Amino acid sequence: MTRIFSGIKPTGHLTLGNYLGAVRRWVRKDQHRAEALFGIVDLHALTVEHDPARVRRLSRQAATLLLASGLDPERCTLFVQSHVDEHARLSYLLECVATDGEMRRMIQYKEKAAAERARGGSVRLSLLTYPVLMAADILAYGTDEVPVGDDQAQHVELTRDLAVRFNQRYGHTFTVPRATHPRVAARVMDLQDPRSKMGKSHESGAGIVYLLDEPEAVRKKVMRAVTDSGSDVVYDREAGPGLANLLDVLAACRGEECDPAAVAAEYSSYGALKRDVADAVVELLRPVRKRHAELVADPGYVDGVLRTGAGRARGLARPVVDRAYRAVGLLPPV
Ligand code: AMP
Ligand code: TRP
Repeated sequence: MTRIFSGIKPTGHLTLGNYLGAVRRWVRKDQHRAEALFGIVDLHALTVEHDPARVRRLSRQAATLLLASGLDPERCTLFVQSHVDEHARLSYLLECVATDGEMRRMIQYKEKAAAERARGGSVRLSLLTYPVLMAADILAYGTDEVPVGDDQAQHVELTRDLAVRFNQRYGHTFTVPRATHPRVAARVMDLQDPRSKMGKSHESGAGIVYLLDEPEAVRKKVMRAVTDSGSDVVYDREAGPGLANLLDVLAACRGEECDPAAVAAEYSSYGALKRDVADAVVELLRPVRKRHAELVADPGYVDGVLRTGAGRARGLARPVVDRAYRAVGLLPPV
């Protein structure tokens, strides 16, 4: 059976980008057609300055929101990365396969390191090695497919390179995975700055729709979205990124097969389009918010899911990582 792994970092509140780029497919497709594991990848949240209490809170919130979005613990494995030692264990071995040069070429590293330095801060070494930990997350489970947004394509490509290199050097150990991306909304852009990705940790929240935003807040953010000069509603990501983003979001809300260029043809004004986008997003999030409120009232349930999930994940990862330890020449415990 196909094995799927994906993860989400508890660095901020989950956004519409996370939902359309990743989570919705996990819920609607992946958990039904494959053996799927989803991790709250908390170790990844420590690569930039962080507040320990906030990471803890966001980890629990992410788990609750994934369940509220429809992940079904009877169908998939939901767990917290740091509860399964195998990730960190394997990461070190993969650091011995990856090169310094290939780490420094990662776009996300270059961008985040530059931003950190511009703020006068220092860059944590873990920010550089982070894609190796991500590769470990994936390879520890013999993963075939990694459903992610566009921004993770390079990291999954690196994971493939590391798997192939390891297998060539030390004998076949890892499945070589591939990334899968949604057809629309693989990169939802910030509503105030449509040339950058809608990210959890943007300084201002005005261009970010959070899954737990009240309907009024969603409407306000969508109605104030930056659009491009001109008045025709056409789909052109280069020339009109603000409009294209709204069309992507509306198409995605209607379903993965919906074509944003065809949606554009239905509209003759920006205002009407924005109103429909706002309505569609509010309706998309309504059941998630409702279910989240129910789950928050039952933290014992969420804990139970995470405990069972970690147990299952350990059972799957342990033999793979043990095999990798033997393959590189480490003496098995006697
Ligand atoms: P992160 O929030 O970086 O942990 O991302 C979790 C998942 O959401 C990954 O698969 C990302 O590719 C995806 N994702 C994050 N932001 C966006 C976005 N703006 N558009 C589409 N997918 C996204
Ligand atoms: N790096 C991913 C992101 O920023 C999160 C992540 C960590 C991940 N490990 C993973 C995604 C393994 C898929 C598979 O979005």
